[in-house]
Amino acid sequence: KKVVLAYSGGLDTSIILKWLQDEYNCEVVTFTADIGQGEELEPARKKAIELGIKPENIYIEDLKEEFVRDYVFPMFRANTIYEGEYLLGTSIARPLIAKRQAEIAALTGADAVSHGATGKGNDQVRFEMGYLGINSDLIIIAPWREWDLNSREKLLAYAAKHGITIEKKPNKSPYSMDANLLHISYEGLVLEDPNAEPEEDMWRWTASPENAPDQAEIIEIGYEKGDPVLLNGQRLSPASMLHALNELGCKHGIGRLDIVENRFVGMKSRGCYETPGGTIMLKAHRAIESITLDREAAHLKDELMPRYAKLIYNGFWFAPERYMLQAAIDKSQEGVNGTVRLKLYKGNVMVIGRDSTTDNLFNADFCTFEEDEVYNQKDAEGFIKLNALRLIIAGKNKKRQGK
Ligand code: ARG
Ligand code: SIN
Repeated sequence: KKVVLAYSGGLDTSIILKWLQDEYNCEVVTFTADIGQGEELEPARKKAIELGIKPENIYIEDLKEEFVRDYVFPMFRANTIYEGEYLLGTSIARPLIAKRQAEIAALTGADAVSHGATGKGNDQVRFEMGYLGINSDLIIIAPWREWDLNSREKLLAYAAKHGITIEKKPNKSPYSMDANLLHISYEGLVLEDPNAEPEEDMWRWTASPENAPDQAEIIEIGYEKGDPVLLNGQRLSPASMLHALNELGCKHGIGRLDIVENRFVGMKSRGCYETPGGTIMLKAHRAIESITLDREAAHLKDELMPRYAKLIYNGFWFAPERYMLQAAIDKSQEGVNGTVRLKLYKGNVMVIGRDSTTDNLFNADFCTFEEDEVYNQKDAEGFIKLNALRLIIAGKNKKRQGK
């Protein structure tokens, strides 16, 4: 028996590694993905070797470009936000990790996969929907739903008993965090009181808006088929684009969020998020769509978006209805080409201009307040009368009845 573990190199997944070896007596393959969490991954290799994993059973892969190109960008084409606020930074990364983990299981002849998500959260659903979507024969081991190491104290005791040492990083956050190129999330501790404000030093990425530069910064993003491809005229790969926008957003205090959200499993949960580059992309994408997308196509997209967001939040990335919606969203983006100019200032992203040389639907000849030669204002009279017809008939009825 062989199991592929989604391994971060941290304390929790190191304990899981040991526990899998002891409880299941199985060979463990570790999989560590670089999706831009901003941590060195070589220590994870070292740690795995210390815990007795054979070098050929250690998989460390850079998935940053795939993550942004095939997951983040497609999601942003829909202007996706969950419950009006959350930019889905964790939700969108889980399917990729799960898919690659299932592929590595096939590659190494493993019959099982394991992850470090708890039995209370969304992540367990997203991982396992991913595994099952790729290979339904995989056995899934979710230690948090099985063992009785359900407190920090018990975990530390288990680690000590089994000689698992974890170097204390000087500046380690006490929060439950998840980081990738799109965001950092924080949960737990003081956040478990939804009325309590977290201390300033919880935030690891962004400057606080109060401390951000007093000088605004103007940037220009170029779009092709709904994806950002140029930053200030320079062509960037998907991961480099998001990385560069993150740096700009962090500097200007952009993308902090403090919300209570509804988890798929039923409870409410309070979380704080930093999504600097994503917050800029959301604003910029709507701006380029505003001049290049047809009204009804745009409105239909906006109606579908909450459904699409819920699919991603709930772990249905590999479901037929998600592919179906994606096809419609992608089709809508064929003419979403052009540039957006934005001003970044103390937590704000302000659109100051948008242009498209090829697909501009904005036509000043029509909407001008000055004299024009293309629009006959008389046409509006019949348009309004026919639209009002139902109201006119109902009104006559009421009048006849003296109401
Ligand atoms: N609540 C967010 C979500 O469901 C973030 C989850 C963070 N996960 C974590 N393992 N810390 O997408
Ligand atoms: C966890 O429970 O493992 C993290 C939070 C979540 O998945 O929602």
